[in-house]
Amino acid sequence: MQDDLSRARAVGAEQGEDFAAINGERDAAYGLVSGGSRVPAMQAVDDDGATPLLLSGVGRVGRDRCHGRGPLLAGRRAARRRRVLQMGQHSPQFGSVADVAQRLAAAGYLADAAIATTVFLADRLAKPLLVEGPAGVGKTELAKALATATDAELIRLQCYEGLDEARALYEWNYKKQLLRIQVSTGSATGESWDEVHDDIFTEEFLLARPLLAAIRRTGPTVLLIDETDKADVEVEGLLLEVLSDFQVTVPELGTIVASRRPIVVLTSNATRELSEALKRRCLYLALDYPSAEREREIVQAKVPDLAPKLAEQLVGTVRALRALELKKSPSIAETLDWAHTLLALGLTTLDEAAVKSTLGVVLKHASDQERAATELRLN
Ligand SMILES: Nc1ncnc2c1ncn2[C@@H]1O[C@H](COP(=O)(O)OP(=O)(O)OP(=O)(O)O)[C@@H](O)[C@H]1O
Ligand SMILES: [Mg+2]
Repeated sequence: MQDDLSRARAVGAEQGEDFAAINGERDAAYGLVSGGSRVPAMQAVDDDGATPLLLSGVGRVGRDRCHGRGPLLAGRRAARRRRVLQMGQHSPQFGSVADVAQRLAAAGYLADAAIATTVFLADRLAKPLLVEGPAGVGKTELAKALATATDAELIRLQCYEGLDEARALYEWNYKKQLLRIQVSTGSATGESWDEVHDDIFTEEFLLARPLLAAIRRTGPTVLLIDETDKADVEVEGLLLEVLSDFQVTVPELGTIVASRRPIVVLTSNATRELSEALKRRCLYLALDYPSAEREREIVQAKVPDLAPKLAEQLVGTVRALRALELKKSPSIAETLDWAHTLLALGLTTLDEAAVKSTLGVVLKHASDQERAATELRLN
């Protein structure tokens, strides 16, 4: 063990990195590793050498292994290749606000000045972006367009009631761990429990869920945490470490720090107030229904076969519906559905008869339909 520790220290020194700060910060993680020994943080590289990880305070180093080869070995290989990583390295993707608007438009998303500016700042300041607004105004689409615009992979965490750490962050591959234990008890190698224990709590047995997967990626990544307000309040606690430090702590392994910061977009329909702690870590963008002109542009961009005159009529009618007191106002998504409907039916004008026969595309409550029919005098 002493040897292992000296070697680990040597690797840390060889890499010329001072990770004392994060070791200090993450002391809590050690407490969960019974009998664990502290070693300097070290860098490990996946077997394919392509996924560098920064492991801070690797718990037990009873055996010299990680990914089947051992963190010490992997650390030395990494040092040899001079693949020294900056913690949470961040390279801005956009040159200016205009660049954001232009590249989002090329990805099919029409952003107004407020959207483009907030996205630019989120990228420049490496801050997560919280997008809040009613259903169907383009929150999720913004994250998708951002991924396209930056040539990044989109990793999505869909939030729902009951979402937990095992689905959001990581979980241990119990079946594989069990197999490993069975193999060790069945073989004549005489492995001690300590050795087996050290082995089954290594990277090889870890199943990365979206948050960890996004942190570990070395390529450009957009992490979409969709419908955050649908998750239980406790999930916000899980998110805090990821959102502020771009890192994930696995007690048995240590702290895994993003080698390249993902662009993070959180969306919320504001069905409940998100915690101040979460909001404090994000830039905030309130999305609402767009102006008539912008909505017309969106319709024309997404449904180019629709005649401009009809698009104008359509947007005008949708706006008239939004002005009514409805249970659920039609969103941009529904405007687009309506445009496709008119095309499919071969309608050339949106007269009262056309509105009446297709109202179900935009209004999904009987009471809303009745109100609209009365107010717009369709009966
Ligand atoms: N600015 C925009 N430019 C282009 N398309 C847009 C824009 N805003 C919204 N849309 C379109 O509106 C549709 C709905 O958007 P999206 O699914 O992102 O809504 P949302 O806000 O995430 O809704 P929900 O809260 O229900 O998930 C998408 O198909 C998208 O193409
Ligand atoms: Mg959405």
